[in-house]
Amino acid sequence: MSLFALGDLHLHFQTPLKARMQKDRVWKNHEEKFYQNCIELIHPDDTLVLVGDHSWGKNLSECGQDLQYISDLPGHKVLLRGNHDMFWDAKKTKSLNEQFQGRLFFLQDNYFPYRDYALVGTKGHCFEGPFYLNRRGQILGWDEENEIHSSKLVAREAERLRNSFEAARRDGYRRFIMFLHYPPTSILEEESVFTAMAEEYGAEHVIYAHSHGESRFHDSIQGEHHGVQYHLASGDFLRWRPLQIL
Ligand SMILES: [Fe+2]
Ligand SMILES: [Fe+2]
Repeated sequence: MSLFALGDLHLHFQTPLKARMQKDRVWKNHEEKFYQNCIELIHPDDTLVLVGDHSWGKNLSECGQDLQYISDLPGHKVLLRGNHDMFWDAKKTKSLNEQFQGRLFFLQDNYFPYRDYALVGTKGHCFEGPFYLNRRGQILGWDEENEIHSSKLVAREAERLRNSFEAARRDGYRRFIMFLHYPPTSILEEESVFTAMAEEYGAEHVIYAHSHGESRFHDSIQGEHHGVQYHLASGDFLRWRPLQIL
């Protein structure tokens, strides 16, 4: 009974893959590579958390085949909301869970049990710039208006994450694995409301995605930080091989 994670599948069975991805070899037949790796690694009683950005489809009817592909993967599938998951209105998590009961679990304002752990999570948010650089690449400033907007989104997502932790705690869970779609910290930072919450509740691991493309792999923290293990699990970073957490 193992726990795996991977994010940013950006499935496109019903929609075209973005042009910049078509040119990148790592995205060539990526859904086939991922499927084969899952078949090889994941058993029916394992759990696979997909860390957001599942589909390019703009609504449920444009995501049907993508969600069917995910359903057909081995193990229990838990989905986190990514910034591109337009099919998933934050207010409709409950109805998605009813609709896909027994096939997919949508993680937001709730938790998923795994052994004696609660898997908790939310989309998260961080400030990604734009930054203004000089010719030597040194930062001169950044978009302050955008940063203010980001901090509002961070506060809302922090509330959702706390709902998730508290729902698990009410049911007696004391061990946590935490998932975010966005990196846990903004670029250039090592602390955030999300890292603070991971420490407060004693989460053992924090898994995030969203940073894909080689230039983004080091946007946030990885490895041990204040007793918590941080992992980047974007699909291209992992070369479509699910990351085993436990
Ligand atoms: Fe993505
Ligand atoms: Fe994303």
